Amino acid sequence: MVNQTRINLSLNLFSFSKLLTLNYSIVEKIMFPIYPDLNKKHILITGGSNGIGEALTRTFAEQVSQVTILDLDHNKGLKIAKDCESLGCKVNVYPVDLTNTSELQNALKKIRKETPTVDVLINNAGYDPRYQLLEMSETEWNHLFQLNVVHYFITCRELLPDMIQAGGGSIIMTSSHVFWIAKPDMIAYNTTKAAVIGLVRSLATAAGKHNIRVNAVAPGWIMTERQLEQWVTPEAKQKTVHELQSIPIELTPNELMGTYLFLASESSRAITRQTIVVDGGYAQS
Ligand SMILES: NC(=O)c1ccc[n+]([C@@H]2O[C@H](COP(=O)([O-])OP(=O)(O)OC[C@H]3O[C@@H](n4cnc5c(N)ncnc54)[C@H](O)[C@@H]3O)[C@@H](O)[C@H]2O)c1
Repeated sequence: MVNQTRINLSLNLFSFSKLLTLNYSIVEKIMFPIYPDLNKKHILITGGSNGIGEALTRTFAEQVSQVTILDLDHNKGLKIAKDCESLGCKVNVYPVDLTNTSELQNALKKIRKETPTVDVLINNAGYDPRYQLLEMSETEWNHLFQLNVVHYFITCRELLPDMIQAGGGSIIMTSSHVFWIAKPDMIAYNTTKAAVIGLVRSLATAAGKHNIRVNAVAPGWIMTERQLEQWVTPEAKQKTVHELQSIPIELTPNELMGTYLFLASESSRAITRQTIVVDGGYAQS
């Protein structure tokens, strides 16, 4: 009798967990609501060809009529653009080295001429090298800032006048939960991501009167292709997911998309100067 109860219970638990898995995959497909106010918007994404940026390009393409991406990886950008044609979204791909300010400025000039005003700017491209402070050269430090911070500033400076004239917009910048985790071999990276939060906070104060909102998303450890190739070990992943995160799920770019969409949409029209941490409950932010 007891054994039968146990069998029934474990069968029930098995069905329940299957149901959860099933529901989870259904939820994954319908996770992102369509925001009607985004429909006619023009979104610009830096680093839109791979990783989190690729997910952003594909996710926003389902919502809007026009996405522009700036990325070194031109071929991948073109492939994504082709895939998105069937969604009725035009994806403009500009091959740019974001660490080269004059190249970036020229591309932005072209974009301002050739495409409608950018309504939502997503500064996303970045790199996360590991260095001990004593081993890092000034050149490496400056180069990292050029990608992780300076291009964020340049895009804002060049695109804000049009947003002001258009009567508003949303700027979203990718920071990192590393700001709170404070990993010892990521001092330079962490400093760049802290700078992004500073930029977000002050720019939000300055631009609010023009109906321009500025927010940051701070992802946790997101299992992108590059992370898997470069940094992820089975031990580190196991520890992060099962010991350090409150919610023990492997984080993919998908887990971030709802937050970016919400911050882009007018649904968050009173939200500005914020940093939203999306890391499965790891950082004590
Ligand atoms: N993946 C994570 O775990 C994680 C966690 C926290 C924050 N972030 C941040 O998220 C953002 C995206 O990271 P990701 O993991 O998707 O990176 P990724 O390396 O997968 O993709 C970065 C994209 O930026 C482009 N890029 C890089 N340098 C460039 C340059 N100089 N000029 C033009 N394009 C360039 C690459 O070609 C690529 O398409 C970064 O700011 C990163 O710091 C990532």
